[in-house]
Amino acid sequence: MITATETKLPRINMPLPGPKAKEVIEYDKKFISPSLFREYPLVAERGYGAIIEDPDGNAFLDFAAGIAVCSTGHCHPHVVQAIQKQAAELIHIAGTDFYHRHMPQLAERLVATMPKSHHYKVFFGNSGTEAVEGAIKLARYATRRDKLIAFYGCFHGRTLGSLSLTASKSTQRKYFGTLLGGVEHIPFPYAYRCALGHTKETCGGEIIELLEEQILKRLFAPEEVAAIIVEPIQGEGGFIPAPGFFLQELQRICNKHGIMLILDEVQSGMGRTGQMWAYDHAGITPDIVLTAKGLGSGMPISAFIAKESVMQWKPGSHGTTYGGNPVCIASAMATLDLIQGGLMANARKMGEYIFGKINDWPSRFKIVGDVRGKGLMIGVELVRDQRTKEKAPDLRDKVIVGAFHRGLLTLESGENSIRISPPLIIDEEQADCAIRIMEESIREAEKSL
Ligand SMILES: Cc1ncc(COP(=O)(O)O)c(C=O)c1O
Repeated sequence: MITATETKLPRINMPLPGPKAKEVIEYDKKFISPSLFREYPLVAERGYGAIIEDPDGNAFLDFAAGIAVCSTGHCHPHVVQAIQKQAAELIHIAGTDFYHRHMPQLAERLVATMPKSHHYKVFFGNSGTEAVEGAIKLARYATRRDKLIAFYGCFHGRTLGSLSLTASKSTQRKYFGTLLGGVEHIPFPYAYRCALGHTKETCGGEIIELLEEQILKRLFAPEEVAAIIVEPIQGEGGFIPAPGFFLQELQRICNKHGIMLILDEVQSGMGRTGQMWAYDHAGITPDIVLTAKGLGSGMPISAFIAKESVMQWKPGSHGTTYGGNPVCIASAMATLDLIQGGLMANARKMGEYIFGKINDWPSRFKIVGDVRGKGLMIGVELVRDQRTKEKAPDLRDKVIVGAFHRGLLTLESGENSIRISPPLIIDEEQADCAIRIMEESIREAEKSL
C-alpha cells in the first residue's frame, strides 16, 4: 500500500538537480573522498518500494537498487520492523568471541539453499570484498596451495586481496602497486563478442581448453592451484552470463585437481536471477559461495558458505569484529522471508516480462548491440555500429543520464553496457514505465550519432 504522498512511478518536478540536491552535492564535494564515482547527480532523501525521493520532492523509479542491494525494495516494512525490533534487543556482541543465536539461525537458512549432497558452514562478514578475502584465505588454508585463477572482466572487490582478482577496469588497480602474487587471469565467455562465433549457450569451450592445455600445463601445476573464482554472471563487467556448460566444465576441472571452485554471487545471488543462486541454473555444486549485496536489503552483511569438508580451519585462523551483527542478521532473515516467500518467483516472472519486451531492441535501435542476462539482472550493450560492434561508452552514458532526467535510475556496467537491476518487488506497470523511459533515452542518444 502506498500512502497519499507516495507514488509508484517517477515524478520529476524541475530540472535536475534541484536546489536542495545541489546543496548536498556541494557539501559532499567539500568533505567526501573524490575517489567516489557518481554517474549523475542523484541525491537520495528517502526510499520506499522501488522509489527514491530526492530532497526537492522528485521521485525516481529505482532500477539500480543501490547496486543490486535493495532486493526487497527500499525500507520494506517487514525488514524495517525486524531491524527495529532487533536494535532494541541486542545490537552487537562480537560473534568472533561470543555466541548468539542469530548467527546459526541465518547460517542454517543459507545452508538450506545449498546443494543437498554436502553439508555447508558459514562465515559472516560485512561486505562483498570481505567475503572474497575470507574465501581466498579459506581456499589457501584448505588446500595448502596459493595460486588463484580468475577471469578478465570479473569484479571481486577493492581491498588488496580481492583487487588482485578483480580485472574489470584498470583505474581500479592503477597506482596501487604490487598485488597478490600467483594470480592468473583468463578470458570470460562473452558470446556477443566471441571471436569464434559461438552462441550464448556454447561460448567458452576454447577457454576451458586454454585453462587445461596452457594454464594448468605451462604456468601453474594444478597441485599448486588453490582456487578458481568466477562470477556466474559478470556484474560490474557488463552483466554477462557464463553458459551453464562452462560452469560445469570449471567444476569438472576443479574436482579433478582438488582445486576449490569459488562462486562469487555477491551481485547475482539472493534470488535476483529467478533462482536463489545464479549457479543453480547450471546445476553445479561449488566448494565456496559468496554472498553480500541483496542479502541484507541494505544492511551491511556478507557471508561465505563453504562445504564442511573445506571449512576446517582452527579457532583463531579467521575472525571479524562486526561480521554477523544481530541487527544485520535480522535484516537478512527478513529479506530471506520475502525472497523465498515470493520475490524470487517475481524476479523470474518480471525478468521474462522485461526480456519479452526488450529482446528485440537490437532490431529496433541501431545503437543496441546486445540484450542479455537472467531474471532481473539485465544488461544492454550499446554500440556505434551493429556490424563492427564498435563500443559506444558515450552513447551509453547519454542513455543513463537521459533516463535519470526522465526519472529512472540505472547504472553503467562494463565499458559500454547498462545494468538493469531493480528491486525484486517491481510489477508490470513499473517495468513498462522503465522500458518506455529507456526507449525514449535510447532514441534521443541515437539522434546524436
Ligand atoms: C561480484 C562482486 N563481488 C564482490 C564485490 C565487492 O563487494 P563490496 O563492494 O560490498 O565490497 C562486488 C561489488 O560490486 C561484486 O559485484
